[in-house]
Amino acid sequence: MTNILTKLPVIILISGSGSNLQAIIDQTNAGFLPIQVQLVISNEPTAYGIQRAQQVGIATQILEHRNFTTRQAYDNALLELIAPYDPELIVLAGFMRILTSNFVARYQGRMLNIHPSLLPKYPGLNTHARVLAAGDTVHGASVHFVTEMLDGGPIIIQAEVPVMPDDSPETLAARVLVKEHLIYPQAIKWFAEGRLALASQGVLLDKQLLTRPVIWS
Ligand code: GAR
Repeated sequence: MTNILTKLPVIILISGSGSNLQAIIDQTNAGFLPIQVQLVISNEPTAYGIQRAQQVGIATQILEHRNFTTRQAYDNALLELIAPYDPELIVLAGFMRILTSNFVARYQGRMLNIHPSLLPKYPGLNTHARVLAAGDTVHGASVHFVTEMLDGGPIIIQAEVPVMPDDSPETLAARVLVKEHLIYPQAIKWFAEGRLALASQGVLLDKQLLTRPVIWS
């Protein structure tokens, strides 16, 4: 068992179902992740992930973006909400908002995101439908450090899945999610163990510069 004092304080931002959040909770409770989830924040009041957090006694906050007139005002409120917790890591787990440069700069090198595509292919939304429309035979998910470029930060780890001829966006999304739930805890574990860092040249894993993302196998 990891001593509580050695656990990395983490805040998780969500917008929806929170299945990645659940995977992180499960892997924390299983002892795989030496982290302490201090708070889960959602911009969507109905996000099911909020219930998932509450079910295991994790503190939650709703910060609804509709109550703010500008992106800057929302992100300032988010910064204020987070500041007292002084987290070591911010985990974006299906948080469907673009963050301002001010926010990103505050947590540069300490913020991870998971994206449902093999970045740099298909940044942005509707990745599964776009993969099907393009006729790709391989798809997947990526975990990356968050930088100012949308879905463009240095990639840490990726997992691939086959695209089947009869796939719909939903069946493909479900297959990708299974892999997301494996690679996100792995990347968070590396960070929590001090093995993963963002340097000016890219991602360092065990002090070695990654020339390409780790591929989950
Ligand atoms: C996941 O597929 C995640 O990769 C994606 O949203 C889904 C959230 O699912 N994130 C993005 O598209 C961010 N650009 P979840 O709420 O069940 O974890």
